[in-house]
Amino acid sequence: MAKDILISGGGKGGVGKSVVSVGAIDTALAHGETPILVETDTSNPDVWKMYKNELRAELIDLDEANGWIDLINICDQHPESTIIINTAARNNRGVAAYGETLSNTLSELDRRLVTFWVINRQRDSLELLNDYMTALAGSVIHVVRNGHYGPEEKFELYNGSKLRTSVERSGGQSLTFPDLADRVSDDLYSKRLSIGTAMKTLPLGNRAELTRWRHEVHKVLSGALYGAS
Ligand SMILES: Nc1ncnc2c1ncn2[C@@H]1O[C@H](COP(=O)(O)OP(=O)(O)OP(=O)(O)O)[C@@H](O)[C@H]1O
Ligand SMILES: [Mg+2]
Repeated sequence: MAKDILISGGGKGGVGKSVVSVGAIDTALAHGETPILVETDTSNPDVWKMYKNELRAELIDLDEANGWIDLINICDQHPESTIIINTAARNNRGVAAYGETLSNTLSELDRRLVTFWVINRQRDSLELLNDYMTALAGSVIHVVRNGHYGPEEKFELYNGSKLRTSVERSGGQSLTFPDLADRVSDDLYSKRLSIGTAMKTLPLGNRAELTRWRHEVHKVLSGALYGAS
């Protein structure tokens, strides 16, 4: 089977889609892979800026049918690479309109479609997930509680929801993504550093925090991506 297509989504702005994409790229690299980044946040391509010198990185607009054609062609041409798609908040509309185009090619691509659905503690994260599950029925969906917005037990709306039962019944996991100290995430964002470059350039204390975080990230995401931690 060809490698997975991974979507880091969440519908909403600012929930942590980009930081989860960064975590997924770093996890794939740690597994010895050469992932391809597809950045669909064309107005603020933060992950693309961080990784464009280190990975094959494409900018694709998924609001248009053409973007989905390009995405599918990249997936077809590079079966040996995991495709990591960083989405923009506004992409939900494009997914509803064209997601089926991708779902319909999965068996021919011989790839699994996996989504990390990133949530904060608010209700709209969950409502948007309902729409997404309908639009991209072909995806395995893992819900990622972003620890930046509080500890796992504070995600009460999701933890006690029917949606959680349905996610887990369909083979998805409920994950908790670790929080990185603000001053280190500010370093990554403001200087547009990949984790690899940050590990060469930041002061020792900052690198120590980044090392702690990335090991946690690998533990949390590896299980969902590779079936083991
Ligand atoms: N787990 C985390 N650890 C540290 N900082 C985080 C974490 N999650 C989010 N943040 C911070 O919250 C802000 C928003 O995160 P991010 O950019 O990943 O969200 P997004 O969903 O991609 O937003 P957008 O919709 O604007 O693309 C960033 O400034 C980031 O530093
Ligand atoms: Mg983003």
